[in-house]
Amino acid sequence: MGISFYEKEGLFQLDTKTTTYLIGIVDGAYVGHVYYGKRLSGCQGACALLRIGEPPFVPSKNEREKASFADTFPFEYSVWGVGDYREHSLLVRTEQGHRVCEPVYVSHRILEGKPGLPGLPATFAGKGGKAETLEIICKDSWIGLKIILRYSVFEDADAVIRSVQLINEGSEKLYVERALSACLEIEGAGFEMLTLTGSWARERTVTRCPLTYGRLSVSSVRGCSSHQEHPFLAVTTPGTTQEQGEVYAMHFVYSGNFLGLCEKSQFDSVRMVMGIHPEGFEWVLEPEASFQTPEVVCIYSDRGLGKMSRILHDLYRNHLIRSPYLHRKRPVLINNWEATYFDFDADKLVEIAREAKKAGIEMLVMDDGWFGRRSRDDSSLGDWYVNEEKLPGGLPALVERIKEEGLSFGIWFEPEMVSPDSELYRAHPDWIIRIPERTPTQSRAQYVLDLSRGEVVDYVYQCVADILYSADISYVKWDMNRQQTDLGSAALSGERQGELGHRYILGVYELQERLVREFPELLLENCASGGGRFDPGMLYYSPQIWCSDDTDAVERLAIQEGTAMLYPLSCIGAHVSACPNHITGRVTPFGTRGLAALAGTFGYELDITKLSAEEKEQIREQVGMYYRYQELIREGDYYRIASWRENQKYDCWEIVTKDGSEVLATYVQVLAGANQKSRRIRLKGLDAEAVYMLAEEIFSDSQESEEQSFGGQEEQPKRTGKKYSGGVLMYGGISVEPVKGDYAGRLLHFIRS
Ligand code: DGJ
Repeated sequence: MGISFYEKEGLFQLDTKTTTYLIGIVDGAYVGHVYYGKRLSGCQGACALLRIGEPPFVPSKNEREKASFADTFPFEYSVWGVGDYREHSLLVRTEQGHRVCEPVYVSHRILEGKPGLPGLPATFAGKGGKAETLEIICKDSWIGLKIILRYSVFEDADAVIRSVQLINEGSEKLYVERALSACLEIEGAGFEMLTLTGSWARERTVTRCPLTYGRLSVSSVRGCSSHQEHPFLAVTTPGTTQEQGEVYAMHFVYSGNFLGLCEKSQFDSVRMVMGIHPEGFEWVLEPEASFQTPEVVCIYSDRGLGKMSRILHDLYRNHLIRSPYLHRKRPVLINNWEATYFDFDADKLVEIAREAKKAGIEMLVMDDGWFGRRSRDDSSLGDWYVNEEKLPGGLPALVERIKEEGLSFGIWFEPEMVSPDSELYRAHPDWIIRIPERTPTQSRAQYVLDLSRGEVVDYVYQCVADILYSADISYVKWDMNRQQTDLGSAALSGERQGELGHRYILGVYELQERLVREFPELLLENCASGGGRFDPGMLYYSPQIWCSDDTDAVERLAIQEGTAMLYPLSCIGAHVSACPNHITGRVTPFGTRGLAALAGTFGYELDITKLSAEEKEQIREQVGMYYRYQELIREGDYYRIASWRENQKYDCWEIVTKDGSEVLATYVQVLAGANQKSRRIRLKGLDAEAVYMLAEEIFSDSQESEEQSFGGQEEQPKRTGKKYSGGVLMYGGISVEPVKGDYAGRLLHFIRS
């Protein structure tokens, strides 16, 4: 790991564990991308990759063709206006209305450590962790704009973290119309683009398409990172699999509007850019003021998507998530949303808690509907006081009763919103995002509070904090259930309305920052109608995010596959719910629902009081299973073995301890087929020389037969004692027999002997 500068060549070398990133300064002015790929021990000859010896040559050798130079040079940060017609990263307007900017290299610094970003989530070195940061300082003297390009590398992570700071050193205002965070130029043939797309209840489905000439993008202008598209973009070599192929990826540490774009241009190079979406964005930069972009995580993998996933998982666990729960066992919770929706009272919650306790569940989470006069989704958001008709004696009384049953207590909020039918809205109709004189657009019968305003942030924070002070509350589910419209803030001047989207997100970050500082032991789970704001930005505040409102175990296989491609399983909010599933109507075996939820934070979302004795017993056994494997799942390396989304038949993933001593593989036969032989499943990441013992095997099928060995909480895992060579497991595989009926699951736990 480290950053070096070779003055003679004008070359910066950024090394991570297995990659090298090279940046060249050309003509003493232009900052160009030289190389990103496998780690190099030396970089002699690399400057030729910039092709500055080829026509049209650098401007000092051929001033008359400077525009052609600009249109082919692989800029580290692309600008508009002097001949680079490809996707630009920066667009700044002057008071005179001109938009041309040409930053040239001025100086650079190499710093120890990784600076934080004021008001923004950011990766950090961590205790004792080593990091280095390169700052390349550029300037356009005509308009007085200084641009700092920042690159950080960590000793133990294979990632390059980029962001940009703009500083107005001129005497006039500048209007920043676009300030993306990263730009990367790569070359190769037949590239494909991989993104995560979807919708509400269908988040993060892996999507691939060929990159042809022109531009392909992912984006959100919805005010949040969104269910529909994800702030992630990967360019892969043709046919890239979990284990093979090259991957260049960008992931945005931000929760608002974003743009990620690839452009294949006339000379076949591909430019990737990522940052805040320019649509509707404009930031007024007064003289001496500065603007900081959020970070982009850049990854290069020479060994397919699996390596990329593991790099990201480690990066987020070691350098982004701050919560004290990161390495702790999370409580097994039961949430009352799918159990009762709005129709509950204190007695019902206590009844759920009582049954839950018997099954080993540790926390009750009271979801939407406990405040104001809320008994449907059309009132009371903003009125954060307890509905005493439902909960007599308020929260202190309820929490005491839940604790007497032996459970801790968690609560739901949707702090960013207000219902038109609420005391808060009646008192402060100007506190919402809206344009004066226009009827604001409702969504789920609610408006978005204008969190660009300090007094609104203060008010919302106080409401949440007062509730948390009022009783012993261990967990908050922070929900956000609508996207933005009618962008207007009563507190911003006309020329600053384009700042609203970003200022709103800064307000959300400030709220959550204050919350986690004031209540450091609080377990915070973010949520946005399921996974509508599942992004690295939110992970800086909460160690887990509710993955999707779709709790159907089969649908979850694909949603969690896409999510786990980027995020550690310990971040993925996953619960067992009742069947027929409330969204799909599908009936899956209870055991398979447990196996799907085990690939996440694990919990329940059903009315346990209505379950049969046999189902309650299964919960008890599943909780035991969670206890046995939670540490391995939280801390281990993730491998995707098979994708039911791709093969339409079966799904398989695996978690291995970092030292290869234990592995937990989950297999789901999604669809049964006639006349099948057993299927060979090759495990990954084991020690080929070692011998492994099959320590426990759990079956789940639609018959839920007597022979299933789930192993209870107090019981020791059932050891089958069968032995396998690591090489056989990895290169030969295990044979998984076909089962009658769909949705059968199987969990296999091997321990190195
Ligand atoms: C959307 C969330 O995703 C659900 O889990 C639930 O909390 C509802 N909102 C409550 O309104």
